[in-house]
Amino acid sequence: MHLSQTTSSLPQGEIEMLVVDNDYAHATISLFGGHILSFTPKHDGIQRLWLSKKAQLDAKHPIRGGIPICWPWFGPHNTQTNLSAHGYVRTQAWHVVNCVDNDDHTTICLKPSVTKGEGFDGKTQLTLIISIGRELGVKLVTENTGEQPFTYTGALHSYFHIEDISDCTVTGLSGQYEDKLQAYKRLPTPMPYAFNSETDRVHLVTPKELAIKSNGHVTHIHSVGHDSIVVWNPWAEKSRTMHDMEDNGYRKMLCVETSVTQGQTVLPGQQHVLEQVIR
Ligand code: BG6
Repeated sequence: MHLSQTTSSLPQGEIEMLVVDNDYAHATISLFGGHILSFTPKHDGIQRLWLSKKAQLDAKHPIRGGIPICWPWFGPHNTQTNLSAHGYVRTQAWHVVNCVDNDDHTTICLKPSVTKGEGFDGKTQLTLIISIGRELGVKLVTENTGEQPFTYTGALHSYFHIEDISDCTVTGLSGQYEDKLQAYKRLPTPMPYAFNSETDRVHLVTPKELAIKSNGHVTHIHSVGHDSIVVWNPWAEKSRTMHDMEDNGYRKMLCVETSVTQGQTVLPGQQHVLEQVIR
């Protein structure tokens, strides 16, 4: 394995990056946000993640693309509307706890500098365990180190790289979803699951296996510990209003998020693991 820790100086600021290059894959991880930016397995050379060309890599704003870590809440805070969407660890500095070379993968363990913040008073240890081999494993471990139970929501908000949204389908979802674009109206999951407009859906199902098919390539997603799957694509009009999204960027990405949207209670001394494996 070759692991290099580099500091990329960028016009808007500085982000410390980890670059992992082993026999099986190449990946980059931003320590700002504990955020995986890219993952390309070497057996097929296909980039699995999408990163906006206009992503703000300034160590201040959330990064558009890769795998943002949404925690300890998903979406807007449920009572305090002044707080940032998707919690506060995606804009925290994270640090490397350890990095281990195994036979067929590299494991990197990261922690954020702070787990307590306005809007959440649980006493926790939060750990992100990233495994880079033929597949990418991402495990977010929420441990209750206090004496009171707490409830959190969150997501592994993965942006998948696709060739073209008009030739993309998702398999593995069924049942009903809540449509965030129609005041959470419950609707049946479309079959086949294709895209022709803005999409923002919370699927209240817990499939273990999902697949994104695009232009003959299939990306497989294995999920653990979730209570829902969120599917998001901003489409053309919304993309134009987003400063960190190219006008046509939406054509090349699809978010399929392994999520806890309904609330996960963690008892004192216990932990909850939210996991996504991408191949
Ligand atoms: C999705 C939400 O998870 O994230 C959408 O369902 C939201 O409603 C999207 O627009 C992007 O959020 P943000 O805060 O990164 O712009």
